[in-house]
Amino acid sequence: MPVTVVVGTQWGDEGKAKIIDLLAHSHHIVARYQGGHNAGHTVVLGDQRYALQLVPSGVFYDHVTPIIGNGVVVDLPTLFTEIDGLESRGVSCARLKVSSLAHLIFPWHQSHDALSESALGNNKIGTTLKGIGPAYADKARRVGIRAGDVRDPKRFCNLVRERALTEQRVLDSLGGEKLDVDVIVQRFVELGERVLPYVADTVNILHDALDKGEQVLLEGAQATFLDIDHGTYPFVTSSNPTAGGACSGSGVGPRDITRIVGIAKAYTTRVGSGPFPTELIGELGNRIVDIGHEFGTVTGRRRRPGWLDLVMLRHAARLNSLTEIALTKLDILDMFETVRVCVGYEVDGKKLSGYPDNPELLGAVIPKYADLTGWKTSVREVRTFADLPVQARALVELVEQNVGVPVTMIGVGPERNECVVRS
Ligand code: GDP
Ligand code: IMO
Ligand code: MG
Repeated sequence: MPVTVVVGTQWGDEGKAKIIDLLAHSHHIVARYQGGHNAGHTVVLGDQRYALQLVPSGVFYDHVTPIIGNGVVVDLPTLFTEIDGLESRGVSCARLKVSSLAHLIFPWHQSHDALSESALGNNKIGTTLKGIGPAYADKARRVGIRAGDVRDPKRFCNLVRERALTEQRVLDSLGGEKLDVDVIVQRFVELGERVLPYVADTVNILHDALDKGEQVLLEGAQATFLDIDHGTYPFVTSSNPTAGGACSGSGVGPRDITRIVGIAKAYTTRVGSGPFPTELIGELGNRIVDIGHEFGTVTGRRRRPGWLDLVMLRHAARLNSLTEIALTKLDILDMFETVRVCVGYEVDGKKLSGYPDNPELLGAVIPKYADLTGWKTSVREVRTFADLPVQARALVELVEQNVGVPVTMIGVGPERNECVVRS
């Protein structure tokens, strides 16, 4: 099985990093394929908790080469804060490679993000304000600066200065933040020198590894319903987290991919604005947020809670060609009397045949629920499917029946070993 893709099936924060860390054990390369430091990927190892934004979740194994792929937008200050933080805790980042084709984020991208959010007022997307959308927009406009540009320091310095001067004029005209061009240029020249040893032809590194029979894992950030094409537009991110994006964002061809693991939380959360059919407002929702610690890894924002939605999961299975599902955070539902699962949508008393292509309609659907009896006991010590309470197994079986994809892993706690792996 040469290439595995791990993709979020909801609106992010499904526990992708925990599962990637688990799977990385049997892989040689773990490569991020899209997104940037809008991601917050948590790995818990014993009493240590690591929150990763750009560094791939395979970094904790000495045998893994972590790669930041061409589809990622890279904020160099964050990358080095992260590398320094990891290395000060004894986690080596020496093997890390950054694709020469990956686009860089600059301070003006963050200024544009903030300006566009404030212009939207009540209709704001609720972005992470990291400059992700503006950086991808520059990539599409063909005015971006890429990691490979640092290989010629003089040219890189000129490129940054030219873009900064242009952006200074644009931001002035929009009433945005003042850019201190000289300070930015100086800072990025230094960051460019520092990133140079990490910059590599990651596309050929990946293919050479595959030619040698090595195992590659492609790490998705964000999730299916934040995908710029397939998500709840405009309340989405600016990249393609869906499995197709794993090819364009890494340079690996589709025929090399044999395993596509969709990560789904046993309930749902969403950060930022946008439709959410199974959203729980009130006490029950607060209980999920409290027990599940549903606050953003990066921004600290409260995540909106809701029940598991199998209409969405079925659609995610189609969009991503899922070969399996990892159902995470089952333990968070341990003490609920009833666990609800959305199995269909209705609009004006009529059943919808599937996930609608209109986000406004998604905002108007009435979810139809299957109510399952809670198991009212802790599952954190459970390591085999047979040892799960019968009610918890019923939830897993309902997912498999509705989605038509096997659930091969079940998360029962945040730590690496707190997982039921079905053979
Ligand atoms: P990601 O962005 O998809 O990697 O997910 P995040 O790291 O943003 O959020 C998932 C949170 O749930 C993190 O705090 C994880 O440590 C935690 N987590 C992951 N899987 C489980 C699980 O099965 N049970 C519990 N209790 N926590 C989990
Ligand atoms: P991980 O990888 C959850 C959301 C933001 C906002 C929208 C657009 O940890 O699952 P952006 O800054 O990307 O332009 O914001 O996308 N968002 C995430 N939500 N998890 C993430 O990443 C997210 N990355 C972006 O909250 O609604
Ligand atoms: Mg996250």
